[in-house]
Amino acid sequence: MTEFAADVRAGLNKSRKELPSKYLYDELGSALFDAITVLPEYGLTRADERILARHAREIPREFSMVAELGSGSGKKTRNVIEALDSPHYFPIDVSAPALERCQRELESLAQVTPLEMSYLDGLDRVRSGRDGEALLVLFLGSTIGNFEARCRAELLAQVRARMREGDGLLIGFDLVKPVETMLEAYDDPCGVTASFNLNLLGRINRELGGGFNLRAFAHEARYDAGERRIEMHLRSRIDQTVAIRGANLCATFREGETIWTESSHKFYAEEIPRMARDTGFRVEAQWVDEEWPFAESLWRAVGSG
Ligand code: TRP
Repeated sequence: MTEFAADVRAGLNKSRKELPSKYLYDELGSALFDAITVLPEYGLTRADERILARHAREIPREFSMVAELGSGSGKKTRNVIEALDSPHYFPIDVSAPALERCQRELESLAQVTPLEMSYLDGLDRVRSGRDGEALLVLFLGSTIGNFEARCRAELLAQVRARMREGDGLLIGFDLVKPVETMLEAYDDPCGVTASFNLNLLGRINRELGGGFNLRAFAHEARYDAGERRIEMHLRSRIDQTVAIRGANLCATFREGETIWTESSHKFYAEEIPRMARDTGFRVEAQWVDEEWPFAESLWRAVGSG
C-alpha cells in the first residue's frame, strides 16, 4: 500500500475523521491553490508579497544559500532572491508540478536545485552538501499556522537543529483579524476554496479507486476562537458508505459528519519573539502589513549556550 493509501485509511478510520492536508496539492490542487492566492477574499498571499517587495532589501546580503519550505510556484520568493547575491536556491516541496513552475520562475536569477521531499529531509539534503556559506531558510505564507500547537515548536526546533548559529529563518505569520474576514478568506463566494478542498476526495477517487460522489459533500470553514484557528472540513450531506479500493476500506458517513482536512492558526504579533526564543532563535527584524494583518519575521539561529 502506498503512503497516501495508508494515510487515507488511517485518517478515515478515526472516530473524528481526518485527511492530511499535504495531499491537497496534486496537479489540480496546486492550480486551485494558485487561484486561491489571487482571490479578493484571501489577502494573505498579497500581504506576504507586499512585505517582501518592500523589505526584502533589508535582509542581510551575506546569505549565499536559500532553502524554502513549501516553495509553491515561487512567485513571492522572487523578491528575496533578487535582493541577495545570486544565491544557490533549494525549493523543498511535496508537489512536483509546483516545483517545476518554481524552477521556471526563478532559474534566470539563481542556480535552482528542486527537492521533492518533506521539509526536514530536504533540509538534511541541503545541509549535507554545505561548506561555509550562510543559509537563509524561507517559511513563507503562514504555513507554520497549519501545524497543531504541539507540533509547531517541535517543527521549529527540528528546523533549527538543521541550521548553524548565525543562519537566518524568514517566517510568515497570519495575524488574528475580524472573524468574518477570516471566514470569507477560507470560504469564498466563487467557490474556489470549496473546489480546492473537495479535490482531495477527487484525488482519492483518481489515485486510489475511491467511490466518492463529490456532490454529496460540502466544504465548510469554521473559526475556533479558543484555539484561534480556522478549521476546514468536508461535510457529508447524507448518510452514505464509500468504498476506496486502493486503501482497502469502506468508510461510512452519517449526514452532517465531517472530514477535517486542514487547520490554519492565527497569531498575535506579540507572541512571535517568545516562539523564536523557545526554539533557538532571536528576532532580528519584523514587518507587519497593515492592510491585511500579517507579520514577516526574520530570525537568527542562536547558540544553545
Ligand atoms: N496554508 C494555507 C492557509 O492556511 C492553505 C489553505 C488556504 C487551505 N485555503 C485553504 C487549506 C482551504 C485547506 C482548505 O491559508
